[in-house]
Amino acid sequence: MWSKLLLTASLFTPSNSGRSTSHCPNVHVLAARETFAPAGLGNATKVVDMICNSHPGATFEAIDYPAMGHECNPYSVQKGAQAVADQVTRFVNDCPDTQIVLVGYSQGAHIIDDAMCGGGDPHMGIADPVAPVPRDVGAHVKAMIWMGSPRHTPGAPYNVGSSQSNGFDPRPKGQTCGPYNGIIQSYCDQNDPYCSNGHDEDLHFAYARIYGDDALEFVNSKVD
Ligand SMILES: *[C@@H]1O[C@H](CO)[C@@H](O)[C@H](O)[C@H]1NC(C)=O
Repeated sequence: MWSKLLLTASLFTPSNSGRSTSHCPNVHVLAARETFAPAGLGNATKVVDMICNSHPGATFEAIDYPAMGHECNPYSVQKGAQAVADQVTRFVNDCPDTQIVLVGYSQGAHIIDDAMCGGGDPHMGIADPVAPVPRDVGAHVKAMIWMGSPRHTPGAPYNVGSSQSNGFDPRPKGQTCGPYNGIIQSYCDQNDPYCSNGHDEDLHFAYARIYGDDALEFVNSKVD
C-alpha cells in the first residue's frame, strides 16, 4: 500500500525542473532588525523600502529571530544565524532565479555576517567555522547591506564610513567574508558605540538616513 502510494504520488509530482516559478519576484530582500526592536524590520525598514521602490515587484521578508541583547545576545545571535540560513535556503529552493539581497541592522548585520561568512563566532558561542549558509545557496545572494555591525573590523574590504576601531565582537584580523567580499557594504562611523568605540548612541540609528542613498546605489549596481 505504502509503495503504491509513493508510486502514485511520484507520477503526479512535477519534477524540480518542471516546477513553476511564476510567483517568484525578480528581487527578494531578507532583512534583519536591530537588538530590542519589535518583530519586523526595525531600522532596516528605510533601506528595504528604498530597494523595493526601486525594483517594481520586489518582495521582502523579516528574519524571524529574537533580537535580544545583554546576557541573551549569544543565544539570539545563534538563533539568528540559523534563521538566516533557514530562510535564505527555503527561498532559494522555491525561487532559484530570484536575485536575493540581505539587509542587516546592528545585530541583524551580525547574524547575516555569521550566517554567510562563517569562521565561527566564539564570543557568541558559535564554535563551528563552517558558514551556516552553504555556498551554492549563498551564490543566489547578490548584495548585502550591513549597518552598525558589531562584527565591524578595520581594514575589511567592504567597509564604508569613518570608523577605524573594532566593534564589540570584531572578526579576527584579516578574516573577512571570502567569496562575498565584493557584494557587501558595511557602514560604520567612528563615534558609534557598537560597531566602533564611540559614545554617540543616536549615530548608531542614523545609518539609513546618512548612507541610505549610497546603499541603494550599491544594491542597484549588483542586481538587475
Ligand atoms: C530605530 O531605532 C530607534 C532607537 O531604538 C527607534 O527609536 C526607532 O523607532 C527605530 N526606527 C524604526 C523605523 O524602527
